[in-house]
Amino acid sequence: MSPASDYRAQAIHQINAALDRYSDFGDGCPAALREAIRYSLLAPGKRLRPQLVLLAAQACGAPMEFALPAACAVEMVHAYSLIHDDLPAMDDDAIRRGQPTCHKAFGEALAILAGDALLAGAFAVIAREIRPAQIALQCIADLSEAAGATALVGGQADDLANERAGRTGGTKCPDCKEETGSIKTLLAELESIHHRKTGAMFRVALRLGGLVAKANPTQLIALEEYGQHIGLAFQITDDLLDIAGDALAGGDQVQKESHRGKMTFPTLLGVGPSRRRAADLIGLAETALRPFGEAGKSLTALAHAILDRTQ
Ligand code: IPE
Ligand code: IPE
Ligand code: MG
Ligand code: MG
Repeated sequence: MSPASDYRAQAIHQINAALDRYSDFGDGCPAALREAIRYSLLAPGKRLRPQLVLLAAQACGAPMEFALPAACAVEMVHAYSLIHDDLPAMDDDAIRRGQPTCHKAFGEALAILAGDALLAGAFAVIAREIRPAQIALQCIADLSEAAGATALVGGQADDLANERAGRTGGTKCPDCKEETGSIKTLLAELESIHHRKTGAMFRVALRLGGLVAKANPTQLIALEEYGQHIGLAFQITDDLLDIAGDALAGGDQVQKESHRGKMTFPTLLGVGPSRRRAADLIGLAETALRPFGEAGKSLTALAHAILDRTQ
C-alpha cells in the first residue's frame, strides 16, 4: 500500500467509526427508523467526500480527528441525497452500495423519513460538535447552501426535468463527436447540472475541512477550486464507468436502469474526449493545490485516485 492510500484507509476507518457513533440515536428514535438510517449510512460507500474534509483540514495543518464531525455531516447529507435519489418518484433504483436500496429494504415511507433524519442529523452534529460556535455557524451556512435549492436539490430538479423532457444528447456512442454549437450548449447545461447536483458537495467538503482548520482565504479559494475540478472529473468518470461496465457486461448488466438514455459527457462528446476532459480537470485540480506545496500531496493523490477509479 502506498503511503497515500495507507493514509486514506486510516481516514476511512475513523470516518466509519464516527458515523457509527453519530447515527446511534438512542431510545428516542424508533427502532425501524434507526435501522433504515444505519442500513444506508453505514453501507460500504467510498467515503470520498468525508475523506476530502479530513484531507483538506490536514493540508491546512490541523489533525485529521479535528475535522471528523464536519466530515460525517457531509457524508450524512450525501447519504440522505442517495436514499431520496433512489426513490420511485426519482430514479426508481433497486440497488445502492451493493445492497437493495433503502426503500426496497424498508418501504418508501421509512426511506423518506430516514433521509429526512440524516439531513437534520448532519446539522445537529455540526452544531453540537464543532467549536468555536462562529465556525460551526459558517459550516452550517455553507453546507445548507450546498444541499439546497441553488445547488444539490436544484441540480437534481434540473436533472430530472431534462430526463423527463426526453433530452438524451444522442445515443451511447464510444466515438468522438464534433463539438458543434448545439453540443456546446448542451455541454454547458450538463456541466451546470453536474456542478450543482454533484460538485457542490465536493466543494463544500473541502471548504468545511478548511474552515475547521482555520484556513486563510487563499487556502480556502484554492481548496474550492480543487473541489470544483475534481467534482466534475468525478462525474465524467462515473459516466465513463457506466459505459465501460456495460461493454464488459455485454451491453446491459452494469449501467443502472435510471441512467439509460441519459445525457452525459460520453454521449455528447464521445469516450476519448471525455477521458481527456476528466484528465485535464485533474491537472487543473493539481495546479489549484500549488499554494499548499508538500501539504497538498494527499489531496493530489486522491484526485488521481478519482480519475483512475474502477468503481
Ligand atoms: C454517487 O456518489 C452519487 C453521485 C454523485 C454520482 P458516490 O459514487 O461517491 O457514492 P458512494 O458514497 O461511494 O456510495
Ligand atoms: C445522484 O446522481 C446525485 C445525488 C444524489 C445528488 P445520479 O442519480 O446520477 O447517481 P447514481 O447513479 O444514482 O449514484
Ligand atoms: Mg439521479
Ligand atoms: Mg440515481
